[in-house]
Amino acid sequence: MKYHFNFNRYDQYEEAFYGTLLTLGNGHLGIRGEIELEPSLYGTTIAGVYDYAPYFYREIVNAPRVIGINLFFNGEPINPSTHKIQKYERELDIKNGVLKTTLRLYSQHNGVIQYESTRIVHGKRKNLVILKFKIRPNKSGNLTVISPININTANPLYRPEILVRHYTVKKQRTLDEAVYVELETTDGKYRIGIASSLITDSEHSRFVNKSVNCIAEVFNLEVEEDEEYEFIKYIIVDFISNSDSETLNLESRILNDLRAVRKAGFEALYEEHRSYWKEMWKIADIKIKRDEEAERGLLFSLFHLMQSIPVDSRISLTAKGIHGFGYRGHVFWDTEIYALPFLMAVFPEKAKEMLIYRYNNLNAAKENASTNGYEGAQFPWESADDGYEATPSVIPTDMIGKDVLRIYTGKEEHHVTADIAYAVELYYKFTGDIDFMADYGLEIIFETARFWASRVRYEKNKGYVIEKVIGPDEYHEHVNNSFFTNLMAKYNLLLGVKYFELSKEHEKWRDVTRKIGLTEKEVEKWEGIAEKIYIPRQRDGVWEEFDGYFELPDYTVDLYGLGEHRLPPEIRENLSRTKLVKQADVIALQYLLKEQFDMENIKKNFNYYLPRTTHASSLSMPIYAIIASWLGYDDIAYNYFLKCAYIDLHNLYGNTQDGFHLATAGGLWQILFRGFCGIEITGDVLEIHPHLPPKWEEVALRFYFRGSLIDINIQKKRVMLRVVSGEKVKKIKIRVFDIETLVAPGDKVVMEV
Ligand code: BGC
Repeated sequence: MKYHFNFNRYDQYEEAFYGTLLTLGNGHLGIRGEIELEPSLYGTTIAGVYDYAPYFYREIVNAPRVIGINLFFNGEPINPSTHKIQKYERELDIKNGVLKTTLRLYSQHNGVIQYESTRIVHGKRKNLVILKFKIRPNKSGNLTVISPININTANPLYRPEILVRHYTVKKQRTLDEAVYVELETTDGKYRIGIASSLITDSEHSRFVNKSVNCIAEVFNLEVEEDEEYEFIKYIIVDFISNSDSETLNLESRILNDLRAVRKAGFEALYEEHRSYWKEMWKIADIKIKRDEEAERGLLFSLFHLMQSIPVDSRISLTAKGIHGFGYRGHVFWDTEIYALPFLMAVFPEKAKEMLIYRYNNLNAAKENASTNGYEGAQFPWESADDGYEATPSVIPTDMIGKDVLRIYTGKEEHHVTADIAYAVELYYKFTGDIDFMADYGLEIIFETARFWASRVRYEKNKGYVIEKVIGPDEYHEHVNNSFFTNLMAKYNLLLGVKYFELSKEHEKWRDVTRKIGLTEKEVEKWEGIAEKIYIPRQRDGVWEEFDGYFELPDYTVDLYGLGEHRLPPEIRENLSRTKLVKQADVIALQYLLKEQFDMENIKKNFNYYLPRTTHASSLSMPIYAIIASWLGYDDIAYNYFLKCAYIDLHNLYGNTQDGFHLATAGGLWQILFRGFCGIEITGDVLEIHPHLPPKWEEVALRFYFRGSLIDINIQKKRVMLRVVSGEKVKKIKIRVFDIETLVAPGDKVVMEV
């Protein structure tokens, strides 16, 4: 039962929390888990569909709700908020991507009604949602089933009372066995088409009800006591960009798809859906022997991460997934630094598409750089469908927009540009994908190096400085020489140098340098800057987070607490004037560029910064956990691993209702992969140096390395590795417990200490 998650409580005020936990999605569509029998503010998320929003530039659209069902028995509405609940069970089966609901509701007038439903957001047919449900009353009477498409959904703005509706209805059509609506986003950029069809074998009368709020099929049935009545709601949701020429075909395409799924029938579609998830888990599954709690939390997180993988490169993974509207559906460094390593190893083709999303937005990033007075490409801190800066610069704190909170991350959190270049290189390390580098990766690396070369300023006695930035620790704004930013900038420049040199040996790569007019001279300049980038000072081996940090008043916190609420008000309101750090910053850099530091130095910094970190961002614990495992701080590593694994299941940050913490999910996988399993890519060598938590007996996982699929079973003193598939001629160099060997497809090796 490790793949089954059951929730047996109904509480109107907690529905939004369960709504996130029980979200189903397939990268294209997201349907939150709120029960279908109750009204909900949440509609459907369609990955890639954004619209202009005041303050937030562009935000993901809360598209119509399609999953709702309204039931009436003898005129009385049937739902958990008005009935006595005798049974309430919701079960998410993450192995098969299915949400099942079982209810027994009682009312004085109409007795007991049993309701059971099965919900899927189809894995293969990306535009398909199905709700199958059965109703069994214990009295005979009149049953009304209303199956709406709710076209009154809207996004809350900076306050929940202020709603923005992001679409207008263009068409509402009543067909013999379906209803269809077509909408256009307010900015006119996208057209969304939705068709819904309710079917039942039971005798019924049907009519369609249209209003400003919905278009609904209404079925009326005379039902017998203790008989079961089954219904299936098929829904197709799709969209096109208005710049696509096929605008006119949207309706016919959707109606054709609807016809096809109805013809295929529920069982065949369900089977197809289950086989999709079987394929996904075939690669992604992880077994942890002797720790079911850790295993379940990990698999639950990976399930939600996998559900959010976009279908193509039009959009990338967003901070909160297809689960909700947190962070407005924007893409952050969370994707490249936290989530992508999992995808590079487990679904490399998908990781590639997400990097192509950045490439597709390279022109916007160039425009962004030039608007800000720089050269090359500067990626936005928050990105939506068009690649322009989408971070709000102010958010009102009152109803009228007079008092505002200023947000500087969009202006100053520049490290994202280097983080993207870093991810391009990491993808290449995992895959060896030369063509990707030629077609997309190199241009990203070169254009971002150009940005940094223009972003620095030379200062006598110091070298090249980078001023007025925000590092990952967002408590300290407008800082100079952030350790994280300066070292990542240096790394980015040196990547430019390295790949320029390597391009000389590859014809296709050389074409890229020609295309963008990159010269020996420009690259020499990059090298010169990189050599002289100012690196903040050290005190007793501890790197200063930014210029002046060491002079700030000190404050320390308990290692196992989370967030700011535990701080006294005078500290909480003056965070920037203390040494407190929001999230892993110096430590995050030492994690990413591990090879530049020795373990003694990493340990000193870890010991210094951890008690000064509030972990107010969910991105913090994964990195501290990885380093803790390298340093042998088993208790810290394991405690943080479990917290990350249960971050949403236990609502540790109190904001699960806004969407799933996907960076943490990706970070959790990295704790396992790079931390506990100790897997590293060093040059061409795959290294494995396990540091399993004391409780764990064995971890079994699969991943791709340079096109070969590898199975490994890791124990504390024994590693079994099998190359499942790959090119026959290709051998992989592995180093386990410092013993080096070559393996080819079909080989199985066991190494022990
Ligand atoms: C964190 C950022 C993160 C963003 C989105 C912020 O609270 O400080 O590092 O990118 O949330 O998850």
